[in-house]
Amino acid sequence: MQIEHSEFQDQLVRGLAHRMNNILTLFHGYVGLLLDNKNLDRGTVDGLARIQDGAKAACHLIDRAHAIVRPSNVVWRDVQLGDFVRMLRPTFDTLRGPRTRLDIDVDDNLPPVWADASRVKSAVFEIVRNALDSTFHTGGNISIELRPESAPEDATATACARWVSVRVTDDGPGIPDEIRGRIFQPFFSTKKKAAATGLGLTVTAGIVSQHGGVLRYESQPGNTVFQLLLPCRPDQG
Ligand SMILES: Nc1ncnc2c1ncn2[C@@H]1O[C@H](COP(=O)(O)OP(=O)(O)OP(=O)(O)O)[C@@H](O)[C@H]1O
Ligand SMILES: [Mg+2]
Repeated sequence: MQIEHSEFQDQLVRGLAHRMNNILTLFHGYVGLLLDNKNLDRGTVDGLARIQDGAKAACHLIDRAHAIVRPSNVVWRDVQLGDFVRMLRPTFDTLRGPRTRLDIDVDDNLPPVWADASRVKSAVFEIVRNALDSTFHTGGNISIELRPESAPEDATATACARWVSVRVTDDGPGIPDEIRGRIFQPFFSTKKKAAATGLGLTVTAGIVSQHGGVLRYESQPGNTVFQLLLPCRPDQG
C-alpha cells in the first residue's frame, strides 16, 4: 500500500490544519471561560459543553489528517519499537475487551528502525487498536510480534539491508471481501462508535510510505494479520 504525495496538497493540508487548530483553540478557550460562569442555567451549560466536545472532536480529526501528509519537520533517529510496544501495554490493556488476551513478543536482537519516533509509533498504535476493536465484544487473541527482517522484495528504501517486521494478528471476524478495496480510503469505517474517524489505516499507510516501508495485510474470518516492515538506518547494512 503506497500513498501518492504532492507537495502542493501537503502544503495545503498543513496550512489548513495549522489555521483550523488556531481557530478551534480560541473557540475551546472562550467556551471554557463562559462555562466558568456559575450563574448559567442547565440548558446553556449543556449546549456549551456540546460545543466544546465538537471543537475537541474537530481538533482530533485535524490532527489525524495532518498525520497523513509529509511533515515539514521530520526528526529522524534510531527508534526501538520494542520499548515502545512494551511501554504501551497498560494503554492497550485499557482498550482491550475483558475476554481478549494480548501477547507481546519482541525479538532479543531487534535493531532500532530509522524513523520519526512519534509518527512510527502512531502507525503501530493504529494497527493494534484495530485488532483490539475487532475482538472487543466477542473476546479473542491478539499477538504483536517484532522481529528482525531482511529487505522485502517490494521495498522502495533499497539502501537498507536490515529491517524490522511488526506483525499484529487477531482472531476476530476478519475483513469481508466486499470492503477490502476501501479500508485504506480516508473516512471509511464500519464501526458504530462515534470516535471512529475511518482515518486510522489512512494515517498508517501514509506514515509507512513516508518511511520507505511496506504495509501488508491478509484476512480471513478468525485470522487477520497486518504487517508493517520498516527499514533501519541505511548505514547499518
Ligand atoms: N483487524 C481488523 N479486523 C477487522 N476489520 C478491520 C481490522 N482493521 C481494519 N478493519 C476494517 O477497516 C476499517 C477501516 O479501519 P481504520 O482504522 O481506517 O478506521 P476505523 O478503525 O474504523 O476508525 P478509527 O481508526 O478512527 O478508530 C474498519 O472500520 C474495519 O472495517
Ligand atoms: Mg482504526
